[in-house]
Amino acid sequence: MSDFKRLHVKALVEANWEAPDWQPLEKTKEGEWLLERHSMTERLKACCRTLTVEVLGLHDVEKGVLSDSERDLLGDQACLVREVVLSGDDVPWLCARTLVPMSTLTEQEQDIAELGAVPLGQRVFNQANARRDAIEVAHLMFDGQVLLARRSRLWVNDKPMLVSELFLPHAPIYQEEG
Ligand code: PHB
Repeated sequence: MSDFKRLHVKALVEANWEAPDWQPLEKTKEGEWLLERHSMTERLKACCRTLTVEVLGLHDVEKGVLSDSERDLLGDQACLVREVVLSGDDVPWLCARTLVPMSTLTEQEQDIAELGAVPLGQRVFNQANARRDAIEVAHLMFDGQVLLARRSRLWVNDKPMLVSELFLPHAPIYQEEG
């Protein structure tokens, strides 16, 4: 396993997620990113010429592996775990880990297990009934720098998944003009 995956995915698993302080946060540049309810993929695409997805991992986990908060948000479910890095013009911007309950991977949604390099948001927000809720945020320390992260629940055809996203140091969320 690469250091990148080990460090960043592990940090997402161990993050201390907290409810955001909506009113002050939504007035800030970081807040616009963290509280985005529509597609993060679309927002990132607007900041580069080419957005690419590298799949770091794809595996199943038993329901007993879920944390209490993951179980509260998704139900007591075995899940598919998808771990990716998104890069804008070849610069790594975002590390994401998504838990997709097996009961979500049914009917029209079976293809979510086989997205490969297609960004999840592109697939999910194609659907008119897609929505996001339960947004939480975390601050993670890396090499003496605080990195921003968020966790949110996406619904498609009333079926949930849980997406954790870590904004890497060169992500537009930290840039003045981004
Ligand atoms: C993914 O393809 O798994 C993915 C893409 C963009 C995100 C999160 C996850 O913001």
